[in-house]
Amino acid sequence: MTLFTDMCDSVLGESIIGRARNAGKVEINTVDIRDYTKDKHRRVDDKPYGGGMGMIMAPQPIYDCFNAICDEIGAKPHLLYMTPQGKTLTQDRVKELAQMDNIAILCGHYEGIDERVIEELQPEEISIGDYVLTGGELPALIVADSISRMLPGVLSDDECFEDESHFNSLLEYPQYTHPAEWNGREVPEVLLSGHHQNVDAWRRQQSIKRTFERRPDMLENAELSKKDKLYLSE
Ligand code: ADE
Repeated sequence: MTLFTDMCDSVLGESIIGRARNAGKVEINTVDIRDYTKDKHRRVDDKPYGGGMGMIMAPQPIYDCFNAICDEIGAKPHLLYMTPQGKTLTQDRVKELAQMDNIAILCGHYEGIDERVIEELQPEEISIGDYVLTGGELPALIVADSISRMLPGVLSDDECFEDESHFNSLLEYPQYTHPAEWNGREVPEVLLSGHHQNVDAWRRQQSIKRTFERRPDMLENAELSKKDKLYLSE
């Protein structure tokens, strides 16, 4: 639910998500809130009561838009509202959302949305991080992307496996492709060896080292073996 469907459609038509939609692995529709205005000039926003900067999105078009979606699909989707005031999105929440049959995402724009429609619809308020964007569209696309890639058949088996083994509280190890030497920089020897056990051990070590250096907070949840802990002390 947005005032900028073109912005969303262009992103959702490309790459992995575009392919998944074409293959029927996920259905995503963009709905223009402006189509539900009852204003004769098709306005969807107005000045804030009490004064102040910017414009506020009026409650009626949003409410009617959500109800039209409910009628259309014959169910009440779980409603998300993208706002920096929401709870920060995590991979755990993404996994839970990916279990739901229907999700609607409300994108705010301008200075915000009339509080009464928030009270009426009781959405789950989600932030994508502690910074402020001009609207909820980019955050909504992030939510749609992160949920879609968790759905069966959207990623290849290989990609799914990578996800399971590497976002398990550890950061990814560094990756390399051809050529073996570039700008005087060489691919680590072990990766050219063809020795799978050594490659696996090196990658595990690199993941742990990176996580320790960049995101020590994540190590609290990581399941580390005795050998893994040895890497940390190296
Ligand atoms: N709208 C504007 N900024 C946002 C953010 N950080 N997260 C979610 N929605 C937003």
